Amino acid sequence: MVLIRSERADGREISCNQFLIAKDKDEIIGCARIKELDNCLELGSLVVRPQYRNMGIGGKLVREILIKDKRRPVYLLCLAQMASFYSRAGFNEIDIGLAPDTLKKEYSLVGSKISGKIIVMINP
Ligand SMILES: CC(C)(COP(=O)(O)OP(=O)(O)OC[C@H]1O[C@@H](n2cnc3c(N)ncnc32)[C@H](O)[C@@H]1OP(=O)(O)O)[C@@H](O)C(=O)NCCC(=O)NCCS
Repeated sequence: MVLIRSERADGREISCNQFLIAKDKDEIIGCARIKELDNCLELGSLVVRPQYRNMGIGGKLVREILIKDKRRPVYLLCLAQMASFYSRAGFNEIDIGLAPDTLKKEYSLVGSKISGKIIVMINP
């Protein structure tokens, strides 16, 4: 939770079984989750502690949570500059018009809080 707050990641409706965490000894150094919205799945809350970044941990968390949770499709919202990071885990960008309604609402919410181009991606 501290990790999520530190990066202002999505900490709403937390339930432990949605998460995959990465640990170094007893310390949690990264997390990701797949959250169930009304009628779709969203990958989010992806955070790696700053001193552990660029070591492949974030990419591994994304790939592993998709192995653990086989339900599809999984959507995500991210900054456009993150597209290549997520495409390595099998996500493709889609037009917001093709996203489920609940995700469209998220998109408006996130877009109003964050500066920068937000895109929607899907792992089909
Ligand atoms: C995004 C994040 C989880 C990546 O974790 P990580 O352990 O560093 O990931 P990896 O080592 O597997 O991959 C690093 C790659 O992601 C890229 N990346 C990370 N943050 C980026 C950003 N904001 N914009 C563009 N690329 C970014 C790095 O440039 C690097 O690319 P490269 O492999 O081509 O050199 C981590 O930077 C983080 O916690 N950021 C803050 C929270 C956040 O932005 N979460 C994602 C919300 S969509």
